[in-house]
Amino acid sequence: MKQFSTTYTYIFSLVLCLVCSILLSVAAVGLKDRQVANEQLDKQKSVLMACRMIKAGERVTPDKVREMFGSITPKVIDLLTDTYAEGVDPETFKEKDSPLLPPMDNAAGLSEISQYAQIFQVKKEGKVDRVVLPISGKGLWGTLYGYLAVASDGNTICGITYYSHKETPGLGGEVDNPMWKSYWPDRKIYDADGNVAIRVIKGAAESPESDPYSVNGLSGATITSRGVSNMLQFWLGEEGFGPYLKKLREDGSV
Ligand SMILES: Cc1cc2nc3c(=O)[nH]c(=O)nc-3n(C[C@H](O)[C@H](O)[C@H](O)COP(=O)(O)O)c2cc1C
Repeated sequence: MKQFSTTYTYIFSLVLCLVCSILLSVAAVGLKDRQVANEQLDKQKSVLMACRMIKAGERVTPDKVREMFGSITPKVIDLLTDTYAEGVDPETFKEKDSPLLPPMDNAAGLSEISQYAQIFQVKKEGKVDRVVLPISGKGLWGTLYGYLAVASDGNTICGITYYSHKETPGLGGEVDNPMWKSYWPDRKIYDADGNVAIRVIKGAAESPESDPYSVNGLSGATITSRGVSNMLQFWLGEEGFGPYLKKLREDGSV
């Protein structure tokens, strides 16, 4: 067998590493736009699933997702003033461009919270029929990101989806399970005193009619379940979308 010198081996390894890193960089830069477009499409699909315009497990083409999403109106809420953010185009809004809220203790366990939040309105005959709100908060292994859809009464849940999380498949990762998501529609958010009452319990909840504020726990995943309850406490409360949903509940003029 032919013997190579040590110098040759080192130079060969170096050149190989260099070529591979150039190829990887070219691929990463070249595919960046497509990656961003796919992330955007995934979020749009998640919004459509939360408000049940797409059923769990239903196959829809990217063009169909874009077409359906075209009927949805985005809005950007300023969480500091509880009004629509001024000078921000909801169509092109990117969360990374938002200023941050002053640091605060929050039930969701978030270290940073954007001042502006993009929500989505589904309209019927010109009136708001459902709103889809972004939610996020700590689970066991990291932050979960998703959407909660709420009916025009500002109190009834239409659906929930998560599009990004680090929870364990089969345990906390069951937040993606269509069966678990099917427990959410028709549950209520606020009790008679206007407090956020919806929570994920340990074990099974009764029907929405007899047990409106409880959702079945994720078995073997109490920490993720608690994380979901906590993020809803925050996002549906005073510091989150509470004031917006209150306006929706009281006069529907949002
Ligand atoms: C490998 C591994 C992965 C786990 N992943 C999760 C998870 O994603 N979410 C969660 O809440 N608990 C997870 N747990 C379990 C937690 O450590 C903890 O025991 C559990 O939340 C307690 O839930 P229980 O009271 O329903 O048993 C995991 C445990 C192990 C060993």
